[in-house]
Amino acid sequence: MQNPREIGSTGIHVSAVALGCWPIAGMTSLDVNHTDSLATLRTAFDLGINFFDTAYCYGANGESEQLIAEGLGRQREQIVIATKGGLHWEPDGSRVFDARPATLRRQCEESLQRLETDYVDLLYLHAPDGTTPLADSAGALSELLAEGKTRAVGVSNLDLQQSQAFHATCPVSALQPPYNLLQRQIETDLLPWCRSEGISVIPYWPLLKGLLAGKLSRDHQFATGDGRAKYTMFQGEEWEKNQDFVDRLRQIGEEVGKTVAQIAVNWVLNQPGITSALCGAKRASQITETAGAGDWTLPASAAQQLEEALRLRGAPVAPGAV
Ligand SMILES: NC(=O)c1ccc[n+]([C@@H]2O[C@H](COP(=O)([O-])OP(=O)(O)OC[C@H]3O[C@@H](n4cnc5c(N)ncnc54)[C@H](OP(=O)(O)O)[C@@H]3O)[C@@H](O)[C@H]2O)c1
Repeated sequence: MQNPREIGSTGIHVSAVALGCWPIAGMTSLDVNHTDSLATLRTAFDLGINFFDTAYCYGANGESEQLIAEGLGRQREQIVIATKGGLHWEPDGSRVFDARPATLRRQCEESLQRLETDYVDLLYLHAPDGTTPLADSAGALSELLAEGKTRAVGVSNLDLQQSQAFHATCPVSALQPPYNLLQRQIETDLLPWCRSEGISVIPYWPLLKGLLAGKLSRDHQFATGDGRAKYTMFQGEEWEKNQDFVDRLRQIGEEVGKTVAQIAVNWVLNQPGITSALCGAKRASQITETAGAGDWTLPASAAQQLEEALRLRGAPVAPGAV
């Protein structure tokens, strides 16, 4: 593992590029299969990635967590597993936010069973449920921390005020928001707060769900069932502007010998306060490419071109979060 980075002040060290294990759950990513998913996990590990991000709800029945156990069970002590609780799927396919203490505890126990381990390294509250007081959810995770079911606690999809309220009851070591070249809302408040508190920021969507991987052509038609079609960044004028932006990234990449995906993830990793970037992949080739995004910086002239590309892109319409 090159230049490992510490999660908060936990003593847990992780690779800059982490594998996001949502695509292998096969719920909104198409053409996912067991063999490719295991190969993706194994390849990530072989490339020096030690950080695997999953959740109770990644898969109708925890398929993502089960795949991690199957693919990397023998490497348990060499890898860092983050999972999340507070969100699940009903049998009819509807998504339910439930962050009550009893639910968080039950989901944590189930996650440990699926992962075939007796602890995770990082346990996040996946999202607030809008009803349960955050102090109650935080209290539950604090108990799981004290019992050693997790080595650290994090929060995801909370705003600044909510994160602070949670942190007051249960010390937060990591925060997981959306963040990438075109989604930079956290720079105004969450990122500075995390930096001042020594909390790791571990963003999701560094590739903006594949848009910043640069492989979706301008005339790409999303197949039925591809979960991306619903987001504004893949629609109409926003799509055209994003494609123009990706073309400029491609030009920069060609000059410095990097791909669009590597430029996009590298930018995230070089922002102050960012610990790791959660790069989703469903194929070994994809994580092989993004694994090459860490441990380098753009030459000054290319960094300037990137700033210019951002200026020309202008502010995107908020693409939303989970
Ligand atoms: N806390 C939360 O609420 C939350 C929400 C979302 C995600 N997450 C976490 O963050 C991770 C990242 O998010 P994500 O997986 O949704 O999106 P992402 O990392 O922004 O994009 C991943 C997608 O980009 C495409 N891709 C990746 N590498 C590529 C490459 N080298 N070449 C071409 N295409 C490539 C693949 O899609 P195709 O092959 O299908 O084009 C892949 O599924 C998740 O896996 C999950 O662990 C957390």
